[in-house]
Amino acid sequence: MTRTSGDETEEDDVPIRVDFRDTATARAWIEDTRVRRPYRPRFFAAFCKALTSTKPLRILELGSGPGQLAREILVHCEVKKYVALDFSPAMHAIATEYLGELASRVTFETRDFREPTWPYDLGQFDAIVTLQAAHETRHKRHLVSLLERARACCAPGGILLYADHYLTPETKLTALSPTRDDQPAALARAGFVDVQLCYEEGNMALWCGTNSTVEASNPVG
Ligand SMILES: C[S@@+](CC[C@H](N)C(=O)[O-])C[C@H]1O[C@@H](n2cnc3c(N)ncnc32)[C@H](O)[C@@H]1O
Repeated sequence: MTRTSGDETEEDDVPIRVDFRDTATARAWIEDTRVRRPYRPRFFAAFCKALTSTKPLRILELGSGPGQLAREILVHCEVKKYVALDFSPAMHAIATEYLGELASRVTFETRDFREPTWPYDLGQFDAIVTLQAAHETRHKRHLVSLLERARACCAPGGILLYADHYLTPETKLTALSPTRDDQPAALARAGFVDVQLCYEEGNMALWCGTNSTVEASNPVG
């Protein structure tokens, strides 16, 4: 059994090291990410391009954080409803401040997506988006379950846009990141079809999968 730097093994969930529920930690992450990941605006643009639609969309964002992706989508896309889900009230407060007037178009949901019941009562969405957050399930083996539950909230014919880092030789917490090939495979295992690469840079990829018109099974509970 592979040992990691602490006492945990490769099979264990990785303990939370950066706790976004702490306001100072959340603000420090925002600044650190701005400097270390200058390519993020190009991912925002790729999300918006993938959300091009003739009808206003109902959108759910998982791990919405400081609202940067929400802002780009609200400004550039036709949005009927935007639900920002995050387990951190601190992040929701930062997002509310950052979005200004746009915040009135957002419903902030404080939920933990590691809980199987997280989709309960959220309704149906035309698009579910997530950026740099799916690894917060704290182990890559939970990725398919997260995406399956997301599909339960996805309207028939709706899409999931999933972006996160993939495994490289430099990856430190290897249990968090699937390989690049395993990312689209996870969408397929969760029942999404026509999985396509939308954008890739900085060891991060944005994938789009479509919820087939067959009614999704309900994995909640
Ligand atoms: C690395 S940040 C990314 C934020 C945002 N998606 C972005 O790219 O700007 C991860 C986000 O996931 C949220 N998060 C972490 N664990 C979570 C959980 N179990 N349930 C819901 N949100 C979670 C954090 O609070 C944080 O806002």
